[in-house]
Amino acid sequence: MTSSTQTPFTTLPANREAVLRVMPMPADANIHGDVFGGWIMSQVDIAGSIPAARRAAGRVATVAVNAFQFKQPVFVGDLLSFYAAIVKTGTTSVTVSVEVYAERQRLDAEVVKVTEATLTYVATDEARRSRPLPIL
Ligand SMILES: CC(C)(COP(=O)(O)OP(=O)(O)OC[C@H]1O[C@@H](n2cnc3c(N)ncnc32)[C@H](O)[C@@H]1OP(=O)(O)O)[C@@H](O)C(=O)NCCC(=O)NCCS
Repeated sequence: MTSSTQTPFTTLPANREAVLRVMPMPADANIHGDVFGGWIMSQVDIAGSIPAARRAAGRVATVAVNAFQFKQPVFVGDLLSFYAAIVKTGTTSVTVSVEVYAERQRLDAEVVKVTEATLTYVATDEARRSRPLPIL
Protein backbone atom coordinates (compact mmCIF):
# COMPACT_ATOMS: atom_id res chain seq x y z
CA MET A 1 0.00 0.00 0.00
CA THR A 2 1.27 3.47 -0.86
CA SER A 3 0.53 6.54 1.24
CA SER A 4 2.06 9.95 1.79
CA THR A 5 3.67 8.71 5.00
CA GLN A 6 5.58 6.08 3.04
CA THR A 7 7.00 8.33 0.33
CA PRO A 8 10.81 8.26 0.43
CA PHE A 9 12.67 11.54 0.14
CA THR A 10 15.64 11.68 -2.17
CA THR A 11 17.49 14.45 -0.37
CA LEU A 12 17.69 16.03 3.06
CA PRO A 13 15.72 19.29 3.49
CA ALA A 14 17.38 22.12 1.61
CA ASN A 15 18.36 25.36 3.35
CA ARG A 16 17.93 23.88 6.82
CA GLU A 17 20.62 22.89 9.30
CA ALA A 18 20.21 19.76 11.39
CA VAL A 19 20.46 20.45 15.13
CA LEU A 20 21.65 16.89 15.74
CA ARG A 21 23.08 14.03 13.67
CA VAL A 22 23.65 10.60 15.14
CA MET A 23 24.00 6.95 14.07
CA PRO A 24 22.22 4.32 16.16
CA MET A 25 24.39 1.38 17.24
CA PRO A 26 23.43 -2.25 17.95
CA ALA A 27 22.97 -1.38 21.65
CA ASP A 28 20.07 0.92 20.58
CA ALA A 29 18.13 -1.92 18.92
CA ASN A 30 15.00 -3.67 20.13
CA ILE A 31 14.60 -7.43 20.39
CA HIS A 32 13.95 -7.62 16.63
CA GLY A 33 17.16 -5.85 15.69
CA ASP A 34 15.60 -2.55 14.57
CA VAL A 35 16.10 0.65 16.52
CA PHE A 36 14.10 0.95 19.75
CA GLY A 37 11.42 3.63 19.61
CA GLY A 38 12.30 4.87 23.10
CA TRP A 39 15.84 5.60 21.94
CA ILE A 40 14.50 7.70 19.06
CA MET A 41 12.17 9.53 21.46
CA SER A 42 15.08 10.48 23.72
CA GLN A 43 17.07 11.81 20.75
CA VAL A 44 14.03 13.81 19.59
CA ASP A 45 13.72 15.28 23.09
CA ILE A 46 17.39 16.32 22.98
CA ALA A 47 17.00 17.80 19.49
CA GLY A 48 13.89 19.79 20.41
CA SER A 49 15.51 21.15 23.55
CA ILE A 50 18.26 22.85 21.53
CA PRO A 51 16.16 25.66 19.96
CA ALA A 52 14.03 25.78 23.13
CA ALA A 53 17.04 26.37 25.38
CA ARG A 54 18.41 28.95 22.94
CA ARG A 55 15.09 30.84 23.01
CA ALA A 56 14.88 30.51 26.80
CA ALA A 57 18.51 31.58 27.15
CA GLY A 58 18.98 28.91 29.77
CA ARG A 59 17.65 25.67 31.15
CA VAL A 60 14.39 24.17 30.04
CA ALA A 61 12.33 21.14 31.08
CA THR A 62 10.17 19.05 28.79
CA VAL A 63 6.57 19.50 29.95
CA ALA A 64 4.68 17.70 27.17
CA VAL A 65 5.04 15.50 24.12
CA ASN A 66 2.08 16.78 22.12
CA ALA A 67 2.44 14.50 19.11
CA PHE A 68 4.82 11.79 18.04
CA GLN A 69 4.67 9.71 14.87
CA PHE A 70 7.01 6.96 13.77
CA LYS A 71 6.52 7.05 10.02
CA GLN A 72 9.19 4.55 8.95
CA PRO A 73 11.44 2.15 10.87
CA VAL A 74 14.97 3.14 11.81
CA PHE A 75 17.80 0.68 11.33
CA VAL A 76 21.13 0.25 13.03
CA GLY A 77 23.66 2.13 10.90
CA ASP A 78 21.22 4.73 9.55
CA LEU A 79 22.61 8.26 9.72
CA LEU A 80 19.85 10.28 11.41
CA SER A 81 19.44 14.03 10.99
CA PHE A 82 17.16 15.94 13.37
CA TYR A 83 15.61 19.25 12.25
CA ALA A 84 13.95 21.35 14.95
CA ALA A 85 11.97 24.58 14.66
CA ILE A 86 10.04 26.66 17.17
CA VAL A 87 6.36 26.72 16.22
CA LYS A 88 4.94 28.59 19.23
CA THR A 89 6.02 30.51 22.30
CA GLY A 90 4.00 31.50 25.36
CA THR A 91 4.84 33.20 28.64
CA THR A 92 7.16 30.44 29.87
CA SER A 93 6.84 27.75 27.20
CA VAL A 94 8.38 26.98 23.82
CA THR A 95 6.77 24.45 21.47
CA VAL A 96 9.09 22.82 18.95
CA SER A 97 8.48 20.70 15.87
CA VAL A 98 11.10 18.01 15.24
CA GLU A 99 11.53 16.08 11.99
CA VAL A 100 13.93 13.18 11.65
CA TYR A 101 15.40 11.89 8.38
CA ALA A 102 17.40 8.70 7.91
CA GLU A 103 20.13 8.20 5.34
CA ARG A 104 20.00 4.45 4.89
CA GLN A 105 23.27 2.59 4.90
CA ARG A 106 22.97 1.66 1.25
CA LEU A 107 24.83 2.45 -1.90
CA ASP A 108 21.86 4.37 -3.36
CA ALA A 109 21.95 6.81 -0.39
CA GLU A 110 18.18 6.65 0.12
CA VAL A 111 16.83 9.36 2.43
CA VAL A 112 13.58 8.74 4.31
CA LYS A 113 11.59 10.86 6.77
CA VAL A 114 11.23 8.52 9.73
CA THR A 115 9.73 10.55 12.57
CA GLU A 116 7.73 13.72 13.27
CA ALA A 117 7.05 15.11 16.73
CA THR A 118 5.93 18.21 18.59
CA LEU A 119 7.14 18.87 22.12
CA THR A 120 6.68 21.68 24.63
CA TYR A 121 9.48 22.89 26.90
CA VAL A 122 9.24 25.29 29.84
CA ALA A 123 11.98 27.72 30.81
CA THR A 124 13.05 26.96 34.36
CA ASP A 125 15.19 28.62 36.99
CA GLU A 126 17.82 27.11 39.28
CA ALA A 127 15.05 25.92 41.62
CA ARG A 128 13.32 24.17 38.66
CA ARG A 129 10.40 26.63 38.75
CA SER A 130 9.01 28.03 35.53
CA ARG A 131 10.24 31.48 34.53
CA PRO A 132 9.18 33.91 31.80
CA LEU A 133 10.95 33.68 28.46
CA PRO A 134 13.33 36.60 27.89
CA ILE A 135 11.89 39.35 25.71
CA LEU A 136 13.46 39.35 22.27
C1 LIG B 1 7.84 22.41 33.91
C2 LIG B 1 7.14 22.74 35.24
C3 LIG B 1 8.16 23.42 36.17
C4 LIG B 1 6.01 23.70 34.92
O1 LIG B 1 5.34 23.94 36.13
P1 LIG B 1 4.24 25.14 36.20
O2 LIG B 1 4.89 26.43 35.88
O3 LIG B 1 3.53 25.04 37.49
O4 LIG B 1 3.29 24.71 35.03
P2 LIG B 1 2.12 25.52 34.33
O5 LIG B 1 0.90 24.71 34.39
O6 LIG B 1 2.05 26.94 34.89
O7 LIG B 1 2.60 25.58 32.81
C5 LIG B 1 3.77 26.26 32.40
C6 LIG B 1 3.73 26.37 30.90
O8 LIG B 1 3.70 25.07 30.34
C7 LIG B 1 2.56 24.91 29.49
N1 LIG B 1 2.05 23.56 29.65
C8 LIG B 1 1.79 22.91 30.79
N2 LIG B 1 1.29 21.69 30.52
C9 LIG B 1 1.28 21.57 29.18
C10 LIG B 1 0.86 20.55 28.29
N3 LIG B 1 0.40 19.38 28.75
N4 LIG B 1 0.98 20.77 26.97
C11 LIG B 1 1.46 21.93 26.49
N5 LIG B 1 1.85 22.96 27.29
C12 LIG B 1 1.75 22.77 28.61
C13 LIG B 1 1.57 25.93 30.01
O9 LIG B 1 0.63 26.27 29.01
C14 LIG B 1 2.47 27.07 30.38
O10 LIG B 1 2.86 27.77 29.22
P3 LIG B 1 2.91 29.40 29.11
O11 LIG B 1 3.57 29.92 30.38
O12 LIG B 1 3.75 29.68 27.92
O13 LIG B 1 1.50 29.87 28.99
C15 LIG B 1 6.59 21.45 35.94
O14 LIG B 1 5.46 20.98 35.22
C16 LIG B 1 7.62 20.33 36.01
O15 LIG B 1 8.59 20.43 36.75
N6 LIG B 1 7.44 19.29 35.22
C17 LIG B 1 8.42 18.21 35.11
C18 LIG B 1 9.43 18.55 34.00
C19 LIG B 1 10.45 17.46 33.83
O16 LIG B 1 11.07 17.02 34.77
N7 LIG B 1 10.63 17.05 32.58
C20 LIG B 1 11.56 16.02 32.22
C21 LIG B 1 10.88 14.70 31.98
S1 LIG B 1 10.88 13.74 33.44
